[in-house]
This record gives sequence, structure tokens and C-alpha cells, in this order.
Amino acid sequence: MSTQNAAPIPVTLIPGDGIGPEIMESAVEVLAALGAPFVWDRQLAGLAGYEEKGDPLPEETLASIRRTRLALKGPLSTPLAKGYRSATVRMREEFDLFANVRPARTIVPGRYEDIDIVLIRENLEGFYVAHEHYIRIGDDPRAAAMSGGVNTRAECRRIARYAFEYALRNNRKKITIVHKANVLKVLSGLFLEEARNVARQYEGRVQVEDRIVDACAMQLVLNPYQFDMLLCTNLFGDILSDQIAGLVGGLGLAPGANMGEDVAMFEAIHGSAPDIAGKGIANPVSLLLSSAMMLDHVGESQLADRLRKAIELTLTVDQVRTMDLRGKATTREFTRALIARLG
Ligand code: NAI
Repeated sequence: MSTQNAAPIPVTLIPGDGIGPEIMESAVEVLAALGAPFVWDRQLAGLAGYEEKGDPLPEETLASIRRTRLALKGPLSTPLAKGYRSATVRMREEFDLFANVRPARTIVPGRYEDIDIVLIRENLEGFYVAHEHYIRIGDDPRAAAMSGGVNTRAECRRIARYAFEYALRNNRKKITIVHKANVLKVLSGLFLEEARNVARQYEGRVQVEDRIVDACAMQLVLNPYQFDMLLCTNLFGDILSDQIAGLVGGLGLAPGANMGEDVAMFEAIHGSAPDIAGKGIANPVSLLLSSAMMLDHVGESQLADRLRKAIELTLTVDQVRTMDLRGKATTREFTRALIARLG
């Protein structure tokens, strides 16, 4: 699609917590230099939302996304083992963002070269429904803990169909269904059963196999080249997507898209990185690659390709890299080098 004189596209922009504002500033500058047709509606969420508005997911933010149906989101901090529920998870539920698309592709050759794996993660169910509670034993009200997962047939079918349709659209050859149906025979078994049913409709067009999650994790390290696409439930997809990010150099190079029928939200797969927040050294590439996915989503694939190419050249030819990639560049220095490449 042409990028000239394109009508402005409103996008809800959530800088997020920790390194979020630093990498978001980079993304906004780069997208402006690229001539991307976005206009931003800045909103709060996560810890920033909680501190300023008393809610990690303020109503204004929800209203903005309802309006724009498109969001670019920084990472949101969530307290461990107490406090409010993850605003990211709530947002996925609120907007029915059922498919999480997480591609991992080698840009900077490292331990492995030429990795190209796309993971599709079911985004609404499984153990993330977080139906959990403590159990009293004797005098101790928190002597034990219990959690239940939920997988519905309808959602398993929807995510499987999404994965197979994605494979056809993007010329991918094989899908590996990841499960733990040997132990979680009901919860994980239902997912496997429905995914296999959907797979039958794509016979001859997309190859299919299945793996138990633990074996899959090991195989990803031993021989990642056997995998093309992974289809996972929520928790396994969360874990394995960080693992495949590790195969291509880490969380600094790992984009993601949360897709629904009406709304799409783009975010890096990493968190708010409190250990490096405020130091100006975070790698903005994951968020920039997520922005490229957003450009693809709105039909601006030429701009998306230009952005991806410029990122690649900045990292490989110019060798401007942040610390997580064993470089010395700050977030700002990387951003300047990338904008010069776009020039
Ligand atoms: P994390 O992804 O924030 O950090 C893990 C490690 O990777 C840290 O050493 C960090 O410095 C490094 N790292 C991550 N992104 C980086 C980047 N762009 N550049 C350079 N280094 C980077 O995971 P962690 O520490 O487990 O979580 C921190 C917070 O983030 C928690 O509150 C968690 O709930 C939240 N989180 C939010 C997510 C979201 O909003 N989608 C996703 C994952 C975690």
C-alpha cells in the first residue's frame, strides 16, 4: 500500500513502566522519521496508571482503545505474589485479544544463525484465568495453594484456526502443537484434540506434528531448525516465546502482537526491566519490531520492511548495539543511528 498522503491513523500509546517510557520515546521518534501515518493518544496503565489514577487499567485508557482499536504498549509492571492483577492480561481479556503472535528471527548472528520461528500463543485461557486461592489447614489459612486452568473447545479451535490461517498467509510450512496431554490429560488434552481437528482441514497445505512441552523445550535448544511455527496454550507459549527470543539474542530483539477480531495491541515480549530502568541503556528493538508488525497490520508493509531493514543494517553493518547485545550504545545513540539509516 502507498504511504504517501495516507490518512492519519489514531493509535493509543501506552509508554508503560520501567524502561517503557525510554523505549517508547525511541519508537515514536523512529516512526516519525519513517513517515508512519500514526497519531498518538497517550494513556496510562500498569504501575503508572495505579499511581496516578488509582487503577492499573484506568477507564480513559480503555475508552481510548475502544476508539482507536489499535494500541502500542510498553511493558507494565505487576507486583509479584500480591497486589493488583496484571493490567496486560486484563487488557487482553477486555478486548478479546485471543492470539499472541511472537516471531523470533536472527538479525545479529550469535549462538545460532538463521533462526526463523513464529510462536502463536493462546492469549485468554489456560492457567492465566488465575482461578486460584489459598487453602487453610489447621491454624494456617495459607497452608496450601490451589489454581485451576480453563480451556474451552471454542477458544482452542479459534486459536488453532488462527495459526493455520497465519501459516497459509505467510507461507509457513509446518505447525508444531505444544502440549502436556500426557499429564494434564483433560486441560491440555482438549487443546491437543481440537488443534488436531482443525489441522485436518489444512491437510496437504500445512504440515502438522505435536510435541510434549518439555521435550519441545529441549529440542528447541538442540536443533531449533526443525521448527517453523509453534502453537501453544497460554502458559507454555509465554515460557517458550522467551526461550525462542533467547535463540536469537535475547529479549531485546523479540516483538509481539496481541490480535483480536476488532482490536490489535502491539508490544515487546519483555517486561519493564527494573534492573536497568532509568539508565538509558535499554534496547528499543523489540518495541520497534512490534511497531513494524503494527505497520504491516494497517497495510503499510513497505514502511514496515524499510524499518526492519534499517534495524538490521544498524545492528550488523554499523554495529551500533545496546549492552544486552554486547554493544556500548545507549538507547538514544541507537535511535540516532537508526534514524540516520532511515535517512
Ligand atoms: P524483564 O523482561 O523485564 O527482564 C528480564 C531481563 O531481561 C532483565 O535482566 C532485563 O534487564 C532484560 N531486558 C528485558 N528487556 C530488555 C531490553 N529491552 N533491553 C535490554 N535488556 C532487557 O522480566 P522480569 O524482570 O521478569 O519482569 C519485570 C516486570 O515486567 C514485572 O513486573 C513483570 O510483571 C513485568 N512484565 C510485563 C510484561 C508486559 O507488560 N507484557 C511482560 C513480562 C513481564
